[in-house]
Amino acid sequence: MNEWENRCGMDKFVIRGGNRLLGTVRVSGAKNAALPAMAAALLTDEPVILENIPDVRDIQTERKLLEAMGCEVELGYGRAHHRTTINCASLNPDPEAGYELVKTMRASTLVLGPLLARTGRARVSLPGGCAIGARPIDQHIKGLERLGAEITQEHGYIEARAERLRGNHIVFEKITVTGTEDLMMAAALAEGETVMENCAREPEVGDLAALLTKMGAHISGVGTPTLRITGVSKLFGARHRIIPDRIEAGTFIVAGALAGGELTVAGCEPAHLGALLQKLEEVGVKFRISKESVLVMSNGELRASDVSTEEFPGFATDMQAQFMALATQAEGTSIITENIFENRFMHAQELVRMGANIRIEGRRAIVRGRTPLSAAAVLASDLRASASLVLAALAADGETIIDRVYHIDRGYERIEEKLRGVGAQIRRIGEMLPRRAFAAVGS
Ligand code: EPU
Repeated sequence: MNEWENRCGMDKFVIRGGNRLLGTVRVSGAKNAALPAMAAALLTDEPVILENIPDVRDIQTERKLLEAMGCEVELGYGRAHHRTTINCASLNPDPEAGYELVKTMRASTLVLGPLLARTGRARVSLPGGCAIGARPIDQHIKGLERLGAEITQEHGYIEARAERLRGNHIVFEKITVTGTEDLMMAAALAEGETVMENCAREPEVGDLAALLTKMGAHISGVGTPTLRITGVSKLFGARHRIIPDRIEAGTFIVAGALAGGELTVAGCEPAHLGALLQKLEEVGVKFRISKESVLVMSNGELRASDVSTEEFPGFATDMQAQFMALATQAEGTSIITENIFENRFMHAQELVRMGANIRIEGRRAIVRGRTPLSAAAVLASDLRASASLVLAALAADGETIIDRVYHIDRGYERIEEKLRGVGAQIRRIGEMLPRRAFAAVGS
């Protein structure tokens, strides 16, 4: 951790609940689309320009990762533009993704495929487990081996080598978002055709395919479980606008449903929010959906409903914690089943400390509502768990203090400012430097 991160590590949110949310909140670019897009810049020696990059900590981590490999990364945040220009013309002779960065952000493993495809070698630290599950990367490794890579693992690192990757038929044994993205990038520069089955269909995968296509890749089947990629010998620079963050949008939509009021979530893509909006309609929330915004209308009267996380287009695991906060305020019993990660209920015990009635049985959380929530000191354990605590605090009686908000800064752009703008009482304490001092690098 550098000095700023050390200080930010101490930040807390203080939230006084009970306010209705009124007005318009704008959604930033999708972190989980921006991270693979930045890694894709490794595939070419020409500049890649990415717009609508969110101002979140994971983007800074990816910037450091690329710079450590010899890439030039200009990152600029301003009112009009959130943009990065990445030039990977002169990579270090032995570029590697070291443990210090990979351990803070698992998505760092996304550099494996592009590095190998472009330079014929890659050295990437194994990420290890994390707060929400074991999260192996065996499918990335098996896929790259099918493309002809020789892969060894030693001293906590993956070492991959290949003269030139060769297209092949790959069937993922498990649907994986970053696995699909890693292999798509590798196959884009492989010799011949790669057919990948059982691929992830998340919008972020589609956004990466759109960028790669602009860079000169030949990809078909986007949005289906089968992707066909005809390799090319060279990829080029491109300019691309990152899609809106559907999880940030979903988090604000749940905030509106929970706190009551009329909240417009602007700059989002409603087509990416289908499963969530359908579920919330069942729960009793009303919407007006336009091309790029969702108006959430809620009188706070919510009915219980069961939910089961699935790969896209199913209900996103990244919205499960936020839905659990909502379920505590719905009349009746909601059963929430987590099918993607084995340990993603860390928020439940914190919600219980605020007065929720939740029992965990293996992969199921049984939430009995509605129980009044009362403010408490709580601890954020991962990104989406932190978001659920912020939501619960908006509905709680009194002043909640959330510790370790650096988790939320990984993936939400100034969430406290955005929520304050629509009437929430939320402030950050422990901050010793203005966030802008960290964020405003470049133009
Ligand atoms: N899995 C394997 N082997 C693999 C890869 C995955 O067994 O080689 C398993 C995982 O352990 C998990 C399941 O497959 O049980 C799905 O994992 P996936 O690979 O799809 O997750 P990911 O690519 O590591 C991305 C998002 C996550 C999001 C998941 C699921 C990024 C950078 N991260 O992770 O986002 O939860 O897909 O949708 O895209 C977040 O933003 O908070 C976050 C955790």
